[in-house]
Amino acid sequence: MPQKKPVVAVVGATGAVGREMLATLYSRKFPAAQVIPFASSRSAGSKVPFGDTELTVRELKEDVFEGIDLAIFSAGGSTSEKFAPHAAAAGCVVVDNSSAWRMDDRCPLVVPEVNPHALEKHNGIIANPNCSTIQMVVALKPLHDAAAITRVVVSTYQAVSGTGKKGLDELERQVRQLFNGQDPEIKVYPYQIAFNCLPHIDVFLDNDYTKEEMKMVNETVKIMEDPGIKVTATCVRVPVFYGHSESVNIETKRKLTAKEARAILAQAPGVQVLDNPKEKIYPLAIDAAGEDLTFVGRIREDESIANGLNLWVVADNIRKGAALNAVQIAEELLKRDLLRVPDKGLFLKK
Ligand code: A2P
Repeated sequence: MPQKKPVVAVVGATGAVGREMLATLYSRKFPAAQVIPFASSRSAGSKVPFGDTELTVRELKEDVFEGIDLAIFSAGGSTSEKFAPHAAAAGCVVVDNSSAWRMDDRCPLVVPEVNPHALEKHNGIIANPNCSTIQMVVALKPLHDAAAITRVVVSTYQAVSGTGKKGLDELERQVRQLFNGQDPEIKVYPYQIAFNCLPHIDVFLDNDYTKEEMKMVNETVKIMEDPGIKVTATCVRVPVFYGHSESVNIETKRKLTAKEARAILAQAPGVQVLDNPKEKIYPLAIDAAGEDLTFVGRIREDESIANGLNLWVVADNIRKGAALNAVQIAEELLKRDLLRVPDKGLFLKK
């Protein structure tokens, strides 16, 4: 029997990711009966673009989810923590882009190219992984299947759009101020981001890693479903508007040559290999911006160990790293007929 089209909410619809979610739902022709944008009381009544029309933003409240089948959240961790349980209690399935639910055992953490089967056991809230983790696992899963990855050493070069609209505004304003001979105003990041690199994303934890770095460590193991993969990360904010780049070094049980890795990645879902050093072909953030794929290049054998590879992995952090992955999860839920909440009160219980 054909399913009825779902009513879809986008929570955080006025933000950088929320706007991209609306654009992605529209461009992928997501079969929604209605799309309803929500944000804070500050934005209630304002308009957001949806294809060639505009939608009126509504204020998010606990009781708005009645009659909504699916809500895609990108409004920060505290908003998700507070409102997602109420959505699930109203029978609305949540795909959440914040870090609030990612490591909760009740919530699958899903990248559709890697572990779509994890959706089968969802309880009403599904977590969208961290942007840097998503693009890395899209590239690593096919290599793991072929040669069993035992260790990953990753350094990231992350765009300011990962901080939302305020990050984009901060970089633009500081560049303008510096070119006008003024002191750059520092509002969002701990130091000047224009013409600088900050080895500090999210807060520092007791082990002196940042929360962003530990997200990459823990989320990778959960998504790849293999505690045998050891990950260490250094996450760096760079003055790029869109597109995260990553230097990824992997160690595998079985030897993979660079040629084999290139051939495996060329067949991998969601991946495009751009790797021809002689022609100066490799992935660049400015080319990945606005694209859906994860780009992999600079594939080299690590000559310092027996079974190692180096990769350069680039993707649009707002698209594959956030909005697109969330919409792909929603598509997969529809395809698998999983738009229902089995135990509506589960997330309201302490
Ligand atoms: P608003 O524009 O009303 O503040 P970004 O990540 O680009 O900063 O966007 C954050 C998004 O989350 C915005 O749409 C913002 O809405 C929304 N948001 C922030 N706090 C809340 C809240 N308490 N309730 C609903 N939406 C929120």
